[in-house]
Amino acid sequence: MEIKVLNAELKEQVCDVLVVGMYEKTDILKGVAASVDEALGEIITKFVIENDKFDAKFGSTYILQTYNKIPANKVLVVGLGEKEKFTPNKLRELSAKIVKKALGIKAKKICIDLGKLEFEPSLSGQVVAEGALIGEYSFDKYKSKKETSKIEEFILVEKEVEKSVKLKLGAEKGVKIAMAMAFARNLANEPAQYATPTKLAEVAKKIEGVKTKIYEKDDIEKMEMGAFLAVSKGSSEFPKFIHIKYIPQNPKKKIAIIGKGVTFDSGGLDIKPASSMLTMKDDMSGAACVLSVMNTLKSFNPNVEVHGIIAACENMPGGSAYKPGDVLTAKNKKTIEVDNTDAEGRLTLADALCYACELGVDEIIDIATLTGACMVALGTQAAGIMGNNQELIDKLIKIGEANGERFWQLPMYEEYKDGLKSDVADMKNTGSRYGGASAAGIFLQEFVKDAAWVHLDIAGVAFLDKPQKELTKGATGVGVRTLINYILSI
Ligand code: BES
Ligand code: MN
Ligand code: ZN
Repeated sequence: MEIKVLNAELKEQVCDVLVVGMYEKTDILKGVAASVDEALGEIITKFVIENDKFDAKFGSTYILQTYNKIPANKVLVVGLGEKEKFTPNKLRELSAKIVKKALGIKAKKICIDLGKLEFEPSLSGQVVAEGALIGEYSFDKYKSKKETSKIEEFILVEKEVEKSVKLKLGAEKGVKIAMAMAFARNLANEPAQYATPTKLAEVAKKIEGVKTKIYEKDDIEKMEMGAFLAVSKGSSEFPKFIHIKYIPQNPKKKIAIIGKGVTFDSGGLDIKPASSMLTMKDDMSGAACVLSVMNTLKSFNPNVEVHGIIAACENMPGGSAYKPGDVLTAKNKKTIEVDNTDAEGRLTLADALCYACELGVDEIIDIATLTGACMVALGTQAAGIMGNNQELIDKLIKIGEANGERFWQLPMYEEYKDGLKSDVADMKNTGSRYGGASAAGIFLQEFVKDAAWVHLDIAGVAFLDKPQKELTKGATGVGVRTLINYILSI
């Protein structure tokens, strides 16, 4: 689908579907919608409004034939809901809905005018473009019969030149963001047999505008990443430690983003039950997000030094697998007793955090499908957020909210550390089942030195088993919107 901006009059457009939005509880059409209605001989007013066929509740739709009264073939009336409650996030969601509706009637060309909305035109352009492309996404690489109906053009029509210029700028940003999400979603939707640690390293190597270093198993041994290495031992796939550097001339700040890259999590010797293992190819969603953000930096050219870091491996129960009771030594020399081999993500992240701290970055953000406990707490509506720097946490929550990604802060009380006490080592990798997301956060903090650090637990939101808002089911690409916009805000 191509997103275009056209400086013209909506009702004159030749297209399959022309979209008209209506707020709830307002019974008169204004502006562009009124002019379309007039050209149609007021059929929207007569059939849709006066006959009570349409309540304009958010997301409701009504399709009208135009009988050649205007060049468009059909008019899609969409409900915007109550005016006071209409936000850019809702516009993004609605845009996805319009695309799905249009696909349902095999439309190829959609025209819409956003002039009635009170948002900045650049913001409207951005979220509409995002929504359209996020909603159109599907992962059909392995289907022999692909969906044939495709929307070719999604056109934002605007009469005023100045506004249309702003719309275009916004739409261009929206397209980049949605493409970045698709990049992450494609990787996380891939089966584990394809998206191996080696594959992630290959993807990293292909990213342009950055320098990438892949550490092989013996390099990882030399770096004494005992926690990460232990997790990788039960698999015949080689672990890869990936470091992608984006370094501009005079950066304002140096940051690291770390993605959990467990390309399959069987649980290891503490093996998962079948039903829990089913989606564990998505245990590299954090890594997919980091790869996507690093891949997008070149096109935005931000003045921030960004290090993308992934400790990629599989967690398998092979003959040389690490065992409950093993004592591991992380890169910072702290020792960890393995209480449960299924708490592997924090072990891989521990060494990645040590590595990031040694780079001397100002800030570290890690993103990880880390705990089922976080999923139980927040469901699919929000990711967990924790860290040692409230200012950075607040900023990320705010940027996430503005960009359709919710983060909810979980506590990091010191007392959670008591649950990780070990008789034989500095700590255990798990404690009680209760408060599991916070305990994992507290564990990670042991490997952070001086940097401001934030941990995003995306276990519940990385993969959907049914569509939600603008997102189709499967991998969501969560974190991409927040991290890109955060980097652009520095
Ligand atoms: N990858 C899982 C967490 C997860 C669960 C992600 C559900 C997505 C959906 C993680 O490695 C894990 O297994 N965590 C354990 C930790 C426990 C053993 C302390 C969990 O949450 O059950
Ligand atoms: Mn696990
Ligand atoms: Zn895991």
